[in-house]
Amino acid sequence: MIKLASSILSADFANLERDIRIAEEAGVDWLHVDVMDGHFVPNITIGPPVVRSLRAKSNLIFDVHLMIENPELYIKSFADSGADIITVHAEATNHLHRLIQMIKGEGKKAGVALNPSTPINVLEHVVEELDMVLIMSVNPGFGGQEFIKSAYEKISSMKRLIDSKGLTIDLQVDGGVGPDNIGRVVKSGANIIVAGSAIFNSKDISAAVKKMKDAGIS
Ligand code: DX5
Ligand code: ZN
Repeated sequence: MIKLASSILSADFANLERDIRIAEEAGVDWLHVDVMDGHFVPNITIGPPVVRSLRAKSNLIFDVHLMIENPELYIKSFADSGADIITVHAEATNHLHRLIQMIKGEGKKAGVALNPSTPINVLEHVVEELDMVLIMSVNPGFGGQEFIKSAYEKISSMKRLIDSKGLTIDLQVDGGVGPDNIGRVVKSGANIIVAGSAIFNSKDISAAVKKMKDAGIS
């Protein structure tokens, strides 16, 4: 089952509740929350208080993508704020296994994200512990960037690694996905598709969601 996760990075921050409601009513499956600290990536976005406020306004799965240094300091805070899935970057910690256990210890689903230049083999010995792998198809930090084409092969390789271990975890792709390439991203093996600008930069958010879903399924 292919699921669409709308990234609120490209939503109107003065009208988050409105934009999320439109996306939710149009059939988006997950809400992807991009958390940036100005250190791990050169941009600053939102933190736990905003997640908490939005949690009260939406029934979507909250998929929190932490692009921050020292993620272990903030797992509890995001868990308490209402995250359902917490994804950390492999590049942001020396102790990935411990960090994954910390997320699971909070009763949340655990994901690990890989930057475009990070090889998938860093996950070989922890993938059994995971609920989701996130393959970044742009360098994290900003919405609206172009999809990096080497990601297709990386998605397929990751899918093979997951299958070879007999796992059924989610494989998410994030960055530069729109109606023109979602089909190939899905064919490569992804089942959770993040889209920010393709949804929220559109004049008609609802139509954009439907277009993405149709293009991803066909
Ligand atoms: C990039 C973020 C993405 C981004 C996706 O650092 O992790 O979630 O918002 O936006 P688009 O779909 O516009 O590439
Ligand atoms: Zn993201």
